[in-house]
Amino acid sequence: MNLFSCFVTTLLLTTFFTLSESANCNNTDHLLILKAFASVDNFNSSSFVCSNARISEINLSSRNLTGALSWKFLKNLTHIHTINLSNNSIKGYIPSWFWSIPSLVEVNLSKNKLGGAIGFESGSGLSSIQVLNLSFNRFTNLAHLSNFSNLSVLDMSYNNLKVLPLGLDSLKKLQHLDLSSCNISGDLKPISNLTSLEFLDVANNHMSGTFPNDFPPFSNINFLNISFNNFTGVLPYDKVQRFGNSSFINTGMLFKYSNTSMNRNVTVHHAPKESHIKPHQILSAHSNPKDPNPVKKNKKPSSKKRLFWIVIISSVSFLVLLAMTVSICCIFKKRQMAKRNKWAISKPVHQHQPFKIEKSGPFSFETESGSSWVVDVREPSSAAVVMFEKPLMSFTFKDLMAATSQFGKESLLAEGRCGPVYRAVLPGEIHVAVKVLENARGMSHDDAVAMFENLSKLKHPNLLPISGYCIAGKEKLVLYEFMANGDLHRWLQELPTGKTDVEDWSTDTWEYPVDSSSPEKMEWRTRHNIAIGIARGLAYLHHAQSTPVVHGHLVPSNILLSDYLDPRIAGIGLSRDRVHTPTTDSDVYSFGIVLIELLTGETGSEETVVKARKLVREGRGVDALDSRLRLGDNSVSEMVECLRVGYLCTAETPGKRPTMQQVLGMLKDIHPITAELN
Ligand SMILES: *[C@@H]1O[C@H](CO)[C@@H](O)[C@H](O)[C@H]1NC(C)=O
Ligand SMILES: *[C@@H]1O[C@H](CO)[C@@H](O)[C@H](O)[C@H]1NC(C)=O
Ligand SMILES: *[C@@H]1O[C@H](CO)[C@@H](O)[C@H](O)[C@H]1NC(C)=O
Ligand SMILES: *[C@@H]1O[C@H](CO)[C@@H](O)[C@H](O)[C@H]1NC(C)=O
Ligand SMILES: *[C@@H]1O[C@H](CO)[C@@H](O)[C@H](O)[C@H]1NC(C)=O
Ligand SMILES: *[C@@H]1O[C@H](CO)[C@@H](O)[C@H](O)[C@H]1NC(C)=O
Ligand SMILES: *[C@@H]1O[C@H](CO)[C@@H](O)[C@H](O)[C@H]1NC(C)=O
Ligand SMILES: *[C@@H]1O[C@H](CO)[C@@H](O)[C@H](O)[C@H]1NC(C)=O
Ligand SMILES: *[C@@H]1O[C@H](CO)[C@@H](O)[C@H](O)[C@H]1NC(C)=O
Ligand SMILES: *[C@@H]1O[C@H](CO)[C@@H](O)[C@H](O)[C@H]1NC(C)=O
Ligand SMILES: *[C@@H]1O[C@H](CO)[C@@H](O)[C@H](O)[C@H]1NC(C)=O
Ligand SMILES: *[C@@H]1O[C@H](CO)[C@@H](O)[C@H](O)[C@H]1NC(C)=O
Repeated sequence: MNLFSCFVTTLLLTTFFTLSESANCNNTDHLLILKAFASVDNFNSSSFVCSNARISEINLSSRNLTGALSWKFLKNLTHIHTINLSNNSIKGYIPSWFWSIPSLVEVNLSKNKLGGAIGFESGSGLSSIQVLNLSFNRFTNLAHLSNFSNLSVLDMSYNNLKVLPLGLDSLKKLQHLDLSSCNISGDLKPISNLTSLEFLDVANNHMSGTFPNDFPPFSNINFLNISFNNFTGVLPYDKVQRFGNSSFINTGMLFKYSNTSMNRNVTVHHAPKESHIKPHQILSAHSNPKDPNPVKKNKKPSSKKRLFWIVIISSVSFLVLLAMTVSICCIFKKRQMAKRNKWAISKPVHQHQPFKIEKSGPFSFETESGSSWVVDVREPSSAAVVMFEKPLMSFTFKDLMAATSQFGKESLLAEGRCGPVYRAVLPGEIHVAVKVLENARGMSHDDAVAMFENLSKLKHPNLLPISGYCIAGKEKLVLYEFMANGDLHRWLQELPTGKTDVEDWSTDTWEYPVDSSSPEKMEWRTRHNIAIGIARGLAYLHHAQSTPVVHGHLVPSNILLSDYLDPRIAGIGLSRDRVHTPTTDSDVYSFGIVLIELLTGETGSEETVVKARKLVREGRGVDALDSRLRLGDNSVSEMVECLRVGYLCTAETPGKRPTMQQVLGMLKDIHPITAELN
């Protein structure tokens, strides 16, 4: 009984303190952190003691934190210096502005389930982060680091990067770089610029490059691991001695030799007497590099034991004899190797300068799915890239080849129905996506030019503008601005699973202007905003032109997301050879499917559409909603209403479908405030 009352008292006290701390704490930073972690499981608000001081450190390492952070609340922590969330289970994307919080110096997000892109949209600010640990996460091949100019420590090991992050070569202060186990293919050359490096680990990738030319200078490096890669070149013995054998396991390099013996090769050959020094060195160096002269020690004999002396002398002479034999063999082998080495060194020079393409066309490229496309031009620089936005830049197909590792699989972003899409950074830091229009092979050169010119005239904030195009043989390539947040389909699929048992932050008493809503509510606002944006873009195509422009292939993977999650429609008018000629009505139908996917979170297959339509018809639209969108508050009626718009758009009879103008009106009415903000 006593025990029980004691327990109750403790519980009450704890509750009281917890409540008084979190609810009565009027420190802005404190409130921001509570909001940021509102939907994170196992977050203990008592971790942050309420005080009037500004918060400079968040250390929640190894707290079993599970779920997604509402990153935006961290934006206003003006004094935050260190964030340590390592060893938890935090999911989701990191918005790009996060990296440029001005006070942020150390960030440790290692061992979580974070994914997506890392970096900035072009034109945004610099990052002040000096120490960044993102190891053991799920980051993918969209990393652009040129704005992280203050980094001195970068650990991105154990992610699925596939390619070297872009902009690495501008990190002039970088001392510690770990890119091990990132599944990276391609040349390591961009790293060769990092002259301040002291620690370099690129082990366990599929990287190529020549040793040591493509590597950073070794003078400052005191830790090196390049094992399990596919390098070429010659591995000097002094490097093995300096960094240890374990730094060079399975590097792909064929030859190892000692610099010193190479330097003496002529002397040794003409004056065999000298060779008795060298063989010891070679033998001992191979057995124990730290003890170069084990035989010499034996030369100091004990004067008492003659027999021992004799044994020693005979063994020494035997050793010398053996050594001489070995050395002669070695010299022959080395000379042979030296000949081969010359070849081994010179070969990669051609191999790793793919931009000096000697070979003349046609050029054939294979995609991941096994399909291939062929550019039938003799000289790749003869096919010009026409740039609309930057007409003074002159690029050719050759530049596109160089910027995509010859359209290598590591540059492949996606394989859509219209053809493969590649990522490329052209000279001048122009970051683009290059789409090969497989359906346009039959189109004449002039028709293609006319089509691209027309498309370039479509300008709207919700349409992804064409940056340029390239007609190379029969292939038509179109260039778009690169969107780091990827497409809508991927975004919806990779979103963390929402929680439904979170405290209701919408009823909180703290006064915070726009942000008095829960992360889930914001989630719904974001999706609503995306729906409105797509409707705007499409309405512009259908109604703002002299003759309506039909998109023809509106699918979530054709809708890209800007840094602020505003939608940009791509792929306008590029689908051809359809059995049914696309119309504005079919665009409306496609929009309906997009809307259904946006609200149900399920890929917009025929079954999804049939199921969602059935539920709406039966008045049970709420059952179709994505469980990651918060249920149980007043936004639900808005979501159901939005789903009903999707129902109207997917009417079987084209004539019954609303126009995009009507759709836009309906969507705006659902939540006038979001619409106003646009
Ligand atoms: C915030 O709390 C401090 C004491 O912690 C108090 O002096 C101050 O008046 C409070 N401000 C508001 C707006 O409640
Ligand atoms: C939260 O942290 C405080 C002190 O840091 C601790 O006393 C309390 O037990 C923790 N609560 C939970 C639920 O872990
Ligand atoms: C961060 O938190 C972990 C575990 O909670 C602790 O072991 C570590 O010492 C803390 N680090 C700092 C710098 O406070
Ligand atoms: C993060 O916390 C771990 C311990 O859990 C500690 O070893 C590490 O130094 C911390 N990192 C930072 C940047 O505070
Ligand atoms: C990581 O967290 C788990 C519990 O969540 C703990 O058992 C483990 O020791 C932590 N690892 C490190 C390196 O702190
Ligand atoms: C971590 O939290 C989850 C629930 O979020 C729980 O099921 C699991 O047991 C916890 N693990 C540890 C090591 O505390
Ligand atoms: C951050 O502060 C700015 C103005 O200082 C304000 O407009 C904005 O709403 C705040 N954002 C958050 C997430 O609190
Ligand atoms: C990050 O945290 C881990 C532990 O989870 C620790 O081992 C590591 O040293 C930290 N890294 C940095 C850069 O602080
Ligand atoms: C990053 O964190 C991992 C463990 O989470 C740790 O092993 C590694 O040493 C850290 N990197 C740096 C540079 O501290
Ligand atoms: C190295 O940096 C310079 C400028 O800092 C740049 O011109 C050059 O292209 C870079 N080299 C590589 C291989 O990235
Ligand atoms: C290594 O590179 C060569 C070409 O340089 C390639 O043929 C080979 O398949 C690569 N090996 C591995 C294991 O990646
Ligand atoms: C080794 O010998 C070959 C021919 O015997 C010569 O061409 C080469 O320059 C020599 N190497 C050095 C380092 O002297």
